[in-house]
Amino acid sequence: MSQQVIAIDGPAASGKSTIAALLAAKLRIPYINTGNMYRAITMYALDSGIDLETKCTNEVFAPLLDTLKLDYIQTASGDYELQVNGILPGLKLRSPEVAAFVSPVATLSFVRDWLKDLQRDSAKPGLIVMEGRDIGTVIFPDAAFKFFLTATPEERARRRLAQDGETFDGATLESVARDIAERDRIDSSRAIAPLKPAADAEIVDTTQMTINEVIDYLARRVNNECS
Ligand code: CDP
Repeated sequence: MSQQVIAIDGPAASGKSTIAALLAAKLRIPYINTGNMYRAITMYALDSGIDLETKCTNEVFAPLLDTLKLDYIQTASGDYELQVNGILPGLKLRSPEVAAFVSPVATLSFVRDWLKDLQRDSAKPGLIVMEGRDIGTVIFPDAAFKFFLTATPEERARRRLAQDGETFDGATLESVARDIAERDRIDSSRAIAPLKPAADAEIVDTTQMTINEVIDYLARRVNNECS
């Protein structure tokens, strides 16, 4: 039986988060952004004083994760947000410092295994949208719907630069494109759960599409199959 999951995967700044959140709201179902879970672990390590340049290892993260609790909760506004040890970190998860270290942290087997259980448990209550890099390949290989969102590297850099607070001061289109390309490189070449479309995923190139066009398209695909 297929799993009640709409899997949305894709590379950095492909528009996944915006689209996944709005699609879930339109369908009135919960939404889990797994990138935020990797970001929360990275933020927690940085806040705990760990030097991630030299100490990005399974041995460092195993005891650290014993003291971390991550929960997705629905806020008063109806949005789904990640709580980190009971606190909503908000935009701190999107800071350029966290972005700089999240891909090395996401290569660690201990971190990926720890999150896999949490992510699989989130889908037990009913249909959800789950967004990330490996949802259709590793976390839910039998997801009912699998979409892989892409856009050209230039368009992705433009989108990221337009997001407030996500890039270092003085960032340019070139520097943002470089940072994104580096994250894509680490994400695609890692040994465990590399970024790649599942063989049965539908690839949606959003370069020339507006956000609403993408959401309407995905909602139609889901509704057609469900009706
Ligand atoms: O928003 P953006 O596309 O920049 O990234 P994100 O979805 O917040 O994910 C941040 C990082 O977490 C990615 O670059 C990956 O290194 C890692 N990640 C992962 O390895 N597996 C996932 N399912 C989700 C994110």
